[in-house]
Amino acid sequence: MTPVSYFPHQNNHMYVEGIAISDIAKQIQTPFYCYSSTAIETNYQDYQRAFSTQDALICYAVKANSNQAVLATLAKLGSGADVVSMGEIRRAITAGIPANKIVYSGVAKTLEEISYALSLDILQFNVESEPELALISKVATSLNKTAAIAFRINPDVCAQTHAKISTGNAENKFGVPISKARLAYKQAAALPGIKVQGVDVHIGSQLTSLAPFAEAYKRIAELVIDLRSDGHDISVVDVGGGLGITYLDEIIPSKQTYADMVTAQLSHLNCKIIIEPGRSLLGNAGILVSSVVFVKTGEERQFLMLDAGMNDLIRPSMYEAYHQIIAVDKSSNVLKTYDVVGPVCETGDTFAKAREVHQSDAGDLIAIMSSGAYGAVMSSSYNTRLLVPEVMVKGNEFAIVRKRPSYEDIIKQDITPSWL
Ligand code: LLP
Repeated sequence: MTPVSYFPHQNNHMYVEGIAISDIAKQIQTPFYCYSSTAIETNYQDYQRAFSTQDALICYAVKANSNQAVLATLAKLGSGADVVSMGEIRRAITAGIPANKIVYSGVAKTLEEISYALSLDILQFNVESEPELALISKVATSLNKTAAIAFRINPDVCAQTHAKISTGNAENKFGVPISKARLAYKQAAALPGIKVQGVDVHIGSQLTSLAPFAEAYKRIAELVIDLRSDGHDISVVDVGGGLGITYLDEIIPSKQTYADMVTAQLSHLNCKIIIEPGRSLLGNAGILVSSVVFVKTGEERQFLMLDAGMNDLIRPSMYEAYHQIIAVDKSSNVLKTYDVVGPVCETGDTFAKAREVHQSDAGDLIAIMSSGAYGAVMSSSYNTRLLVPEVMVKGNEFAIVRKRPSYEDIIKQDITPSWL
């Protein structure tokens, strides 16, 4: 799937499923996120088909996009969830994802979060350290519960992705080093309230090659054999998420190729496989729609100044991420080179430099592509800009799935102290 697969132009106008983007814009005003329900469903079903020969559970990584409409769409298809906080557990449960399909990752789970997850009897805790294990054991014992656990193993493999989203190097904060894994499992088996059931690994996000995955899973398979010979009953391997998407022209292995590689590395273990995809389900299923506020001619450059900013989509300023920028109406045949920027008072509020876009004027609509994952979830109201709303489309229908708050909503959250 390319960035434009689900947002094609017909008669020079961008559509999503059966609706023109401009029709949605008229009703809700820009900026807003727009998701295609069919795109999300198709991506999920591609994973399902790819893993159909294995005992596999897809646990969608909620952090990529945690809107209730997204979670409910996936819940309906049978998806589980990979969560990293109390908030994400609550979102998943509220959307109809059953607790026995929830795996709980994260490096600093608190006592309250662990108690809550235990009270729901979730499928698995992905434990990231020995102190976390000790806390889970203590809380489980006090609640008379048993926590099913896997250690997240840091396999010391370089994911060959952006440094800020690479997690499987020895120097990263994530997981238990593979060299210490056997000792960690020995300690776990001796603790009350703990049931050792699996091994977990996640080496990073936006991977464009299968080689680092294959290397990590090979090391994990060897570890499972060692752990079994140590007497542990390992029945689950959680292979994490991380398969990338095409933002520009990256060639990404298909979900089937990925699944075949997982099978090749792990099927001899006869374990249940958990996968935790986020970006590859949502990324190209969503766009950020914005309007041009001004076209400004600087000394050397022309600027397209948008009504969306880094507070709405932070990926370009945070990771130097590339997103295609496309005019919703392409009827002008002229391409121009622009710096595409937002309204926030920081130079970093730049979506693209020297980018070719169809000639645009104030009021024209612009789509920032591939924004369905790590877009809305990372938005803020910096500069007291209203939190960006979200829309989901299915066929000829659309629904506002997160509405734009009012200024009163934002300001009333502050409390003026009595001495003022
Ligand atoms: N499982 C775990 C334990 C994770 O930490 C993550 C993502 C995933 C699964 C899902 O990975 P995915 O399939 O989406 O690659 N904000 C960054 C991405 C951060 C990813 C964090 N972990 C961005 O905008 O690129």
